[in-house]
Amino acid sequence: MTKVLVAFDTKYGNTKIVAEKIAEGMKEVEGIEVTVSNMKKVDLKTIEQYDAILMGCPNHFGGPTRTAKKFIDKLGKLDLKGKVIAVFDTYIKEDFEKAVKKMEEKINEKIPGSKLMTPGLSIKVEEMKGPILEEEFPKTKELGKQIATQIKG
Ligand SMILES: Cc1cc2nc3c(=O)[nH]c(=O)nc-3n(C[C@H](O)[C@H](O)[C@H](O)COP(=O)(O)O)c2cc1C
Repeated sequence: MTKVLVAFDTKYGNTKIVAEKIAEGMKEVEGIEVTVSNMKKVDLKTIEQYDAILMGCPNHFGGPTRTAKKFIDKLGKLDLKGKVIAVFDTYIKEDFEKAVKKMEEKINEKIPGSKLMTPGLSIKVEEMKGPILEEEFPKTKELGKQIATQIKG
């Protein structure tokens, strides 16, 4: 079994939905076991058992949330050499990929031995509290499936 953690931060629930949809896509690939968890509840002692770690958060003030930044800092203290990592964000208006790019920069700096899969996924919500734009949904499952296939391959 290939084990994947999808960790999310959220204020209004939209990024959690994205995490769950990515997980759904992953489960379409045989031999993948996915755990979806709020970043704040992830037990860091369990992280090294995963083959891949996906992490996502809402865009707050043009970048990742404080919780997401702290999560990356914490992962930086573990041995994650060779692990597959990918990121996702949710945003409104014009901030496509802004939090994703900043998370990717931070991961390259803090977790240099990992295999960061880019580009991350940036999902648009209609307003502050959502909902996620309908046309965004196919991308979420597709990313899950694509990453799962690559890890297995
Ligand atoms: C404090 C705060 C700051 C925000 N700043 C931005 C921003 O700079 N750019 C942007 O696109 N969205 C911004 N947003 C909108 C969030 O991206 C949106 O609320 C989020 O995608 C919803 O996801 P969630 O339901 O998982 O919290 C902000 C939201 C909050 C609460």
